[in-house]
Amino acid sequence: MPMKSPVIIDLKFDQEEVAAALKGAFPDREVINLLHPGNRKRDLSSIDYAVVWKPGADLFSRAKDLKVVFSGGAGVDHVLTLPGLPDVPLVRFVDETLTTRMSEWVVMQCLLHMRQHRLYEAQRDKRIWRELSQPEAKDFTVGVMGFGVLGQDSAKKLKTLGFNVIGWSKSGRKVEGFETFDDSGLDAFLGRSDILVGLLPLTPDTKGIFNTGLFTRLSRKGPFGAPVFINAGRGGSQVEADIVASLNDGTLHGASLDVFEQEPLPLESPLWSMDKAFLTPHAAAASDVAALFRHVEQQITRLEGGKPLEHLVDRNAGY
Ligand code: NDP
Ligand code: OXD
Repeated sequence: MPMKSPVIIDLKFDQEEVAAALKGAFPDREVINLLHPGNRKRDLSSIDYAVVWKPGADLFSRAKDLKVVFSGGAGVDHVLTLPGLPDVPLVRFVDETLTTRMSEWVVMQCLLHMRQHRLYEAQRDKRIWRELSQPEAKDFTVGVMGFGVLGQDSAKKLKTLGFNVIGWSKSGRKVEGFETFDDSGLDAFLGRSDILVGLLPLTPDTKGIFNTGLFTRLSRKGPFGAPVFINAGRGGSQVEADIVASLNDGTLHGASLDVFEQEPLPLESPLWSMDKAFLTPHAAAASDVAALFRHVEQQITRLEGGKPLEHLVDRNAGY
């Protein structure tokens, strides 16, 4: 029987988590963890598979014979721009653990705004006991921009809570139970959205899409009289100077941001001190490393068993 190809691991994740997840993973093949000092000079030619997140600059020149590259995350903008990326199938990470984490984050942000949590925190700081108005989920329409794996799951969970939810995607794909829009319906979609959730990949088409021009087209008919913007897709899709200005002049009522144009968010960013913005450090949906390795193993088993790979990236579309 031919030897099974080893798998290269080049993940700039928490190394203790990676080491723990590697115990028992890939039982029938060798694992070459490039973060292990002993592997620094290792010959990587004739190896078929690599799992990467911010890999070393020399990975692809050392691993010349890769047959598949696996992204350690759902987004692949950072992989597609890697110098020397071979022209082989690129598989992104799709898994219930990641999807659930993202939906939890999106639902939490919608509820934080709806229940005016920042105002209660401010009142608590001043020891003020005052009940605020309590609009209900059914009073809001949430527009989810990017109606793929993560957008659809968030939409389903928001709908369960009573929110009206509509979706926007490139293809305007039909999703049972939801009204959906494509590019030609963007104005209608925005005009209905009291809360806008961004779950778009970063591509040339989505770069800077969340800007003042778009915010001014959002609904102002919701309970707060101005819309809320929530983004966990990619920071490159938002114009932070416009978010700051829009929060200051009332174009936006509030914002929740998990992703930023530059990460870590620079210390001098005005966003840090804006009461109207909830910020998290690109932590909405971390990749569960054990689940990532299970997903990679499943895909390798499919491939070696003659089945097509799943979750393939369309390089032309950029996601
Ligand atoms: P999918 O590929 O499943 O979905 C992407 C969606 O965006 C699709 O509906 C697609 O349209 C739509 N889309 C893409 N380009 C355009 C465009 N130009 N105009 C309109 N719609 C467009 O991706 P996921 O849902 O799995 O992930 C989405 C993104 O979330 C990732 O790319 C990543 O950047 C981000 N992410 C962030 C994390 C975090 O922790 N903050 C964690 C994980 C992911 P169509 O349906 O027609 O193809
Ligand atoms: C991802 C991410 O793309 O964590 O998975 O941002």
